[in-house]
Amino acid sequence: MEAISDIGVIGIAVMGENLILNMESKGFSVTAYNRSVDKVEKFVNGRAKGKNIFGAMSIEEFIGSLKRPRKVMLMVKAGRPVDDFIETLIPLLEPGDIIIDGGNSHFPDTERRVKYVESKGLLYIGTGVSGGEEGALLGPSIMPGGSKAAWESVKPIFQAIAAKVEDGSPCCEWIGDGGSGHFVKMVHNGIEYGDMQLINETYQVMKDMLGMSADDMQKVFAEWNKGELNSYLIEITSDILAFKDEDGAPLVDKILDTAGQKGTGKWTGTVALELGVPLTLIAESVFSRCLSALKDERVAASKVLTGPTPTFEGDKAAFINDLRDALYAAKVISYAQGYQMIQAAALEYGWQLDYGSIALMWREGCIIRSSFLGKIKEAFDKNPALQNLILDDFFKDKILQAQAGWRRVVAAAVLNGIPVPCISAGINYFDGYRSARLPANLLQAQRDYFGAHTYERLDGPRGQFFHTNWTGRGGETSSTTYGV
Ligand code: 6PG
Repeated sequence: MEAISDIGVIGIAVMGENLILNMESKGFSVTAYNRSVDKVEKFVNGRAKGKNIFGAMSIEEFIGSLKRPRKVMLMVKAGRPVDDFIETLIPLLEPGDIIIDGGNSHFPDTERRVKYVESKGLLYIGTGVSGGEEGALLGPSIMPGGSKAAWESVKPIFQAIAAKVEDGSPCCEWIGDGGSGHFVKMVHNGIEYGDMQLINETYQVMKDMLGMSADDMQKVFAEWNKGELNSYLIEITSDILAFKDEDGAPLVDKILDTAGQKGTGKWTGTVALELGVPLTLIAESVFSRCLSALKDERVAASKVLTGPTPTFEGDKAAFINDLRDALYAAKVISYAQGYQMIQAAALEYGWQLDYGSIALMWREGCIIRSSFLGKIKEAFDKNPALQNLILDDFFKDKILQAQAGWRRVVAAAVLNGIPVPCISAGINYFDGYRSARLPANLLQAQRDYFGAHTYERLDGPRGQFFHTNWTGRGGETSSTTYGV
């Protein structure tokens, strides 16, 4: 078989199929393969017809059709299928060939696979691909990491198919070693969860407290989308609110209020706990989905657990501005926490990451794309060692301006019994982060009281630990100090 294709893609599902068409439209020849070959036939006789796309009917034919170094992109379900394909491919490939995983794999799996595939003389890239069906076809955000030696061969294809920002820069750059590409994609998804939940909370306050209709809310989101909240998720929220069911009523009102999730948000929360990063807002967004899923329990509880009936007296338009400020400020906190997590991982795993470049990759193409990310890029370009996004002058000023409205929203929501877990997690983080003194002195005293866990003193040097015999009944032995 003649080597005719620049790249091969395994997995002709929604993302794979659209990525292949995107690659072909940018002038690359592509071989498509799927374990169930009927999908290959359907594709080559359907959307791929007449295009520079070759459908392989066996894995051998697939490999034989690829130009060297061979680039094989897996667009299959995360988990076992990726490992199975790696095992199938290894004996068929030659040194220097490249396996790319473009699914939502968990980053420790990618870390492991990079090492394993490299040990076989091949190269491995684990890449985040975001943007859904339309993004895959017209320009996704692509976040590759793994074997750096593979990047030069893959770069022309990935940067050609990626979304572009206004000046033409692609939303695709090399992220770093090991599983860093999938790590960054995981945090992207966590941020996606946070952004969505924040929008959902403003929606519920508008609906239940201000008594607004879907049409009224649609106008507000459309208006917000013209300003600094401009983003894909605000835009689709406005579209969704405007969408009518066959009977002319808003479809959104008829959708069951139980959220699904595929796991990337949960991973973000779990890894944050492992790294010791206070990723409170994203964690709350995952828990909000979990709580929403307890529909039957909630319905039963709603009959016995009473609370205030939401009411609103006052200036509605002014309160909607407060809601906008609350959403914006909480969003800044969410991204600040997400970046803290990426920074902590870089330290933990020894990755050299460019934070401005990551913001640029999210600027277009992906689900969290927004003009806001352009500002994050500016902040990290100005100060690559920025410790926390909220310390950047632009975001600091924004938060300080927004905080009065943000506080009014949290207070009103709590008084009216409307849950705002993410908007309030944001302000709690903000107030905690800006506190020179937190009550952890008491906590340390409690730990020392019941377990002789020791404490440091304000008037002593850091690293010197004390134990007090609080009751007069304890011994002099103290527990060792160690951190987790
Ligand atoms: C993307 C998305 C995508 C994710 C879906 C569904 O960047 O294109 O993040 O990767 O799978 O958004 O996620 P949940 O089912 O967990 O909501």
